[in-house]
Amino acid sequence: MKRLRLGHDWEIAFNEQRLIEFDGEEIVVRRTSDNDWIAHSRYCPHQNADLKDSQISGNVLRCPWHGLQFDLASGQNLTNQCSPLSVFDVVIEKGEVYIYALHPPSRQQIYLGRYGWDLRVGTFTSDLNEQLSVNQDYVAQTNRGAERVTILALSKNSERSLVAGRILRNISGEQRFDASVVPKTLTYLESAIGRLETGIQLIHVEKLLDGNMVAYLLGEPTRALGPLAAVATRDLERQIWFEFVNLEA
Ligand code: FES
Repeated sequence: MKRLRLGHDWEIAFNEQRLIEFDGEEIVVRRTSDNDWIAHSRYCPHQNADLKDSQISGNVLRCPWHGLQFDLASGQNLTNQCSPLSVFDVVIEKGEVYIYALHPPSRQQIYLGRYGWDLRVGTFTSDLNEQLSVNQDYVAQTNRGAERVTILALSKNSERSLVAGRILRNISGEQRFDASVVPKTLTYLESAIGRLETGIQLIHVEKLLDGNMVAYLLGEPTRALGPLAAVATRDLERQIWFEFVNLEA
């Protein structure tokens, strides 16, 4: 297995962090005050925030930009909102510190795409397990929300910090599914909300460009909707949000 010798353990103080390059990836290596060693990719897989100096609590890292949390043992995002963070094993052998690839680095193909209502050009990573096609339209998450992207070319620029967003899904695949998704969600939510017996009424379901759904409700917000949103998101395989409509506004 590929490994990198970082140096003697006494060369790195408690609470110190180092930036290194390993297998083409920029990595943050930290030694905590409890003498734990942690190594992870420098950039957040969500929108490439710099994770140097980011907050760590126990085994969980919190990204400073949008607050997503990553399990440092597996790299998994705790709410599954983006691909995993690359994490690495740190092993001390006879007082020497070695970094091993624990989960493969998230080095990804970068694509050049035209996106949004103002047809900007920018670079994108992809969450899809397939090579994207040139001239094909996709939905991407950018810092303005979900936007349509037309892929123009594979990018030779591998600078992850310049990435404008990440591709979430193929638009044509989503359109094929489109006819059934709204009524299916309505039926599912109507019966699930009815079972809560809270008097809440479902009045409308809207599908967003990224394929996720917003359900508009009338009534008094209740905590029971939190678990329901999580279960519905799992069962319907898309993010479900609830929004209460204020008739007095
Ligand atoms: S860039 Fe890290 S959570 Fe958004």
